[in-house]
Amino acid sequence: MTRKRRPKRRLKGKAVLFFLMLLLLVGAAVCLICGWIFMELGTDAERTITTVISNSENSYGTSETISSSKPPVEAVTAEAKTLSLEVGESTVVSVSVEPKTVENPKLVYSSDNEAVASVDQTGEIVGIAPGTAKISVTAEDNEAATAQITVTVCEKEGGSKPESGNTSSNEGSAELTYIDGILIVNKTYALPEDYAPGVDPTAKAAFDEMAADAAEEGLNLYISSGYRSYEYQAGLYDRYVARDGQEVADTYSARPGHSEHQTGLAFDLNTISMDFAETAEGIWVTEHCHEYGFIIRYPSGKEDVTGYQYEPWHIRYLGVETATAVWESGLCLEEYLNITSVYAEE
Ligand code: DAL
Ligand code: ZN
Repeated sequence: MTRKRRPKRRLKGKAVLFFLMLLLLVGAAVCLICGWIFMELGTDAERTITTVISNSENSYGTSETISSSKPPVEAVTAEAKTLSLEVGESTVVSVSVEPKTVENPKLVYSSDNEAVASVDQTGEIVGIAPGTAKISVTAEDNEAATAQITVTVCEKEGGSKPESGNTSSNEGSAELTYIDGILIVNKTYALPEDYAPGVDPTAKAAFDEMAADAAEEGLNLYISSGYRSYEYQAGLYDRYVARDGQEVADTYSARPGHSEHQTGLAFDLNTISMDFAETAEGIWVTEHCHEYGFIIRYPSGKEDVTGYQYEPWHIRYLGVETATAVWESGLCLEEYLNITSVYAEE
């Protein structure tokens, strides 16, 4: 009996073995197929992530941030920091951003004085009326990334701009006088009594940069007199007249409305004394202030042209380009612009 059953058992055993092998084979096949599918998906995902990571690395030098949003603008730079326009003239200043990998950065343009210069969202700046305006260009996604352009707007050629060599005073006029884009104030050209802009921030920033560079050389530059209102200048001038008489006072102090200090673009540095010219600071300022946009406004030897004694301490902001041109010309500002500096009644 036992012998008769053995072949059946063998058969059953073989069937089970066959079934198990089949299961193993199917399992292996399924694993292979799944593995292939996951590998494919995984490769795609890896590719995607690698792309984002490499973008991140380009922008930030790190691969930690994996993000699908584009990196923010970190800095905005305008090709020109100052520019001059005539009324009705327009221009677009080239602007670049950092990092350079940001494509089509969204920039927002604005003017702090639309009555003088307007700007649209393509960056086109238009001169509206004589005066100065600051154009700001700021990254939409980062307010700290911003650049400023100081725009000086002057009358159209053939408009009410004074002719070169013009000796007529604008005393009592409500207008500012721009000559070749430069706000001019001297004995011939006055400022309106109510012109009170305060210290010019661009000029102040230029001074701060200059003072910082001078400090690197162990020099101490500071502002002893900056912006002065019409009223303040009137009190100052009256006291000098009372002390020295008008003729002498006129050689060193401007009458109210005639002081460059009222523009906010002029600073008296350190000690207001002729000795300043001989100090290390005075010598350095004479040699380098144009590199920061300033000129010594009343130079030695030009007293008859400027109308004032030599003032080694009085600097006037014109912007680097103009200040350097004036410095290289060896002329004082009146000679450079071919204008006079004489009070109307003289
Ligand atoms: N000392 C210069 C001329 C002023 O008073 O503005
Ligand atoms: Zn001064």
